[in-house]
Amino acid sequence: MKPFYLTTAIDYVNGAPHLGHAYEKVLTDVIARFRRLRGDRVFFLTGVDEHGQKVQQAAQQRGIPPQQYVDETGADFRALLPLLNISNDDFIRTTEDRHKRVVTRLLQQLFDKGDIYLAKYSGFYSTRQEQFLQEKDRQPDGTWPEIYGEVTEITETNYFFKLKQYQAWLVEFLTTHENFIFPRFRQKQVLEFLKEPLNDLCISRPRERLAWGIPLPFDPQYVTYVWFDALVNYYSVVAETGQWPADIHVIGKDILVPPHAVYWPIMLHALGLEVPKSLLVHGWWSVNGVKMSKSTGNFIEPAEYTTEFGTDALRYFLIREMNVGQDSDFTRAQFLVRYNSELANNLGNLVNRTLNMTTRFAAGVIPAAGPAEAPEQELQALWTTTRDEVIPLCEGFQFHAALERTFAFVTATNAYIEKRAPWKLGKSTTAADQALLRTSLATMAEALRLAAALISPVMPTTTEKINAVLGHTPVGWPDELAWGARLTGRKVAEALVLFPRPLPADKAPAKS
Ligand code: MSP
Repeated sequence: MKPFYLTTAIDYVNGAPHLGHAYEKVLTDVIARFRRLRGDRVFFLTGVDEHGQKVQQAAQQRGIPPQQYVDETGADFRALLPLLNISNDDFIRTTEDRHKRVVTRLLQQLFDKGDIYLAKYSGFYSTRQEQFLQEKDRQPDGTWPEIYGEVTEITETNYFFKLKQYQAWLVEFLTTHENFIFPRFRQKQVLEFLKEPLNDLCISRPRERLAWGIPLPFDPQYVTYVWFDALVNYYSVVAETGQWPADIHVIGKDILVPPHAVYWPIMLHALGLEVPKSLLVHGWWSVNGVKMSKSTGNFIEPAEYTTEFGTDALRYFLIREMNVGQDSDFTRAQFLVRYNSELANNLGNLVNRTLNMTTRFAAGVIPAAGPAEAPEQELQALWTTTRDEVIPLCEGFQFHAALERTFAFVTATNAYIEKRAPWKLGKSTTAADQALLRTSLATMAEALRLAAALISPVMPTTTEKINAVLGHTPVGWPDELAWGARLTGRKVAEALVLFPRPLPADKAPAKS
């Protein structure tokens, strides 16, 4: 059986990775972990996009060869993965032979098929976006939008890919595959874009202008346009393993139209290859309403937060705060609100109470529960609805809502503890109170175990730590998610500090 294959976009390495890059990896990782827990075999690919003009320029500015430049900056992107506890199965660099070989082969195939032709072209070129612009890209006052940077008029002979002749096929494909793009409104945007006739795609850059790329096999005076090179990464890694097509490409909204929704499906279709099963398009993290990016310099480095609060706290915040597909603003204040009230005071508190009371009132051994009375029955019923809602929410990428439900269950468990007040029961010597004490200790431990299981795709280390202090070895889903008496007789640890109080502002690491 083909594994469930999912990818992130591959990052440009001309700068340091920021929270936007981190988010995409965490989101994809959550999906990968969720799938594995459900028993799927998963193949998760991420990597870096190392060719193109941006890299060539950045290397020139530093006065070093581009290969050395990408070797150095790429290391920061690779270091991001362990920092965020990303469970990728492979990592692709577009300068690797295994990739260049496939790009070369596919280009030759399209050329032989007659889908690539040479033509003289004159037009406006944006270096920043590495693309030719159309008249319609101009602003009403005739200037070019800021995102294009410097725009120059050039006349060049180049190779073109016959995109236009596949436009009708693409429209038909999108119309008959309604769930190709998530969220759905993005698919409508693509169809809107396709109402205008497509231009054929310029897929070459003359060597004298851009040397840092994959040479065209049929004309080495040219290198391959960076998007044609980059998109192929998804296929090159699995070209010989029979694992194509990808099930999900996770990407940001800026690279949907035209690269992933137009060029990529058409390239694959022209090559007689299957198109990916779906595109999952997330929004942008901004700071004070401005998109976080290298070029504006308003970016937050993930390490700033993982060092101070831990990897899982950052993963939690990114997934809890952003509704996949929409945009979110990142503020330290909002991070602290969630860290304190949801992680430290809610989940952290449940862990503390469970360990502490089991140690004090049951010599550290989780007792067997007696018959469930109303409060236990209510909590168990809430568990069942929580679990039965959270799984479909995760399947539909509504992870923020899944976490919200899961944490509502944690809140309810804390409320259950308040109601049973084991600290009072512990002082009583009646047999009835002692029985109730045992039931309440067993119930809170079981509820904690279950909540920990459900957060595991988002906070895998936290789940592991909780399982460890409960003396519990997890089994696969769905069994792990069934309320039972799995913990009876387990010896618990005395304490676990999961989410320590944040440092006061004057002791916190300096903000960039
Ligand atoms: N190299 C191309 C992608 C090629 S994929 C075949 C590229 N690289 S990038 O470094 O600019 O962006 C990589 C990913 O990070 C994109 O999906 C992009 O949307 C995402 N993000 C970059 N900044 C972002 C935010 N501020 N917020 C969320 N994600 C954003 O594009």
